[in-house]
Amino acid sequence: MVTASRTPHLRIDNLSVGFKTYEGHKQALELANLEVCHGEAVGLVGESGSGKSVLALAVMRLLRCPPAEIAAEHLALDGRDLLSMSRRQMRRLRGREISMIFQDPMSSLNPVFTVGSQMLNVIRHIHGEKGKQAKTRALEFVRLVGLPDPENMLDKYPHQLSGGQRQRVIIALALCCDAKFIIADEPTRNLDVTVQAGILKTIDRLRHELGVSLLFIANNLGLVSAMCDRVAILLDGRIVERGTVHEVVAAARHPYTHMLLRAIPSAEEREEASAAPSPKAAVAAVVPAGEGAEIACPYYSRCSDRLEQCRLNGRPQLVNVGDSHEVACYRTVREEVCV
Ligand SMILES: Nc1ncnc2c1ncn2[C@@H]1O[C@H](COP(=O)(O)OP(=O)(O)OP(=O)(O)O)[C@@H](O)[C@H]1O
Ligand SMILES: [Mg+2]
Repeated sequence: MVTASRTPHLRIDNLSVGFKTYEGHKQALELANLEVCHGEAVGLVGESGSGKSVLALAVMRLLRCPPAEIAAEHLALDGRDLLSMSRRQMRRLRGREISMIFQDPMSSLNPVFTVGSQMLNVIRHIHGEKGKQAKTRALEFVRLVGLPDPENMLDKYPHQLSGGQRQRVIIALALCCDAKFIIADEPTRNLDVTVQAGILKTIDRLRHELGVSLLFIANNLGLVSAMCDRVAILLDGRIVERGTVHEVVAAARHPYTHMLLRAIPSAEEREEASAAPSPKAAVAAVVPAGEGAEIACPYYSRCSDRLEQCRLNGRPQLVNVGDSHEVACYRTVREEVCV
């Protein structure tokens, strides 16, 4: 078992991502800083449209520029600047050092190739292994992620697998490259609750066994708190609260974090959501981000605790309210000063 160290594996400072659109420039992300240390799991939580996938794709350098426009003071993996790398260097880095588990397994697997040929292809490309040696590695990872009947599994096409099995194949593909940094972008979205639990358990076990650093993205704060050491809450492209899981979940200060906590579906609601989405589960998924973006705090129009300055004083900055607990909210900061 490998434990977390305090050396940054991923370091992000002042990352800005925007898009050129027909309506003009659209700012999707404005991230002051975010660090994931070696062996650590950091959760990134936010409602739909808050910029989670844009962040993941920017780190992987998978956004097409233009229309995307990316700038950063630091965007570094193990001290190496990702933005100054050539496409060739990035291709070498992806898979070998950083891998991503995508939101939708069907769009990351090629429907016309078997699981085995897709895995062997990746192994050949990354490790230069072929034949029996490559197959042994593929079987090892198919077993590691808990897929049944590994030999048979390699001969299956993606459409012959269940959603949960496909997601396990994606995890096996991400891990068989030996990448020590994994970005998991809502890896269990659209899966039913029991399958979801099994997959999260697998990611958590493998992360510890293989000493992988993890950036775990979700819109369900409950999932993240079970998987991660620290959590950052994303609203309209910016972090509005962050800290240890305990600080953010048990002592949440930002009204938006409270909303995300209220939106965590109960066990029964999650069971029901497997058949039809529960209204509570839908809260985090359908509320449009950036509502009221022209006023200072993007949560203003939905906030029951708002103050006049939340409308007038510009976007609130992150302020320290505990050991490693930071919040960007005028109300919270005012209460801190008054205590
Ligand atoms: N290619 C693009 N062109 C213009 N805008 C884009 C593009 N890609 C993303 N965006 C915008 O960036 C914002 C963040 O999108 P993103 O996909 O990161 O959301 P998300 O937090 O991952 O949401 P979800 O939980 O639904 O996956 C959204 O407003 C989206 O419309
Ligand atoms: Mg997304």
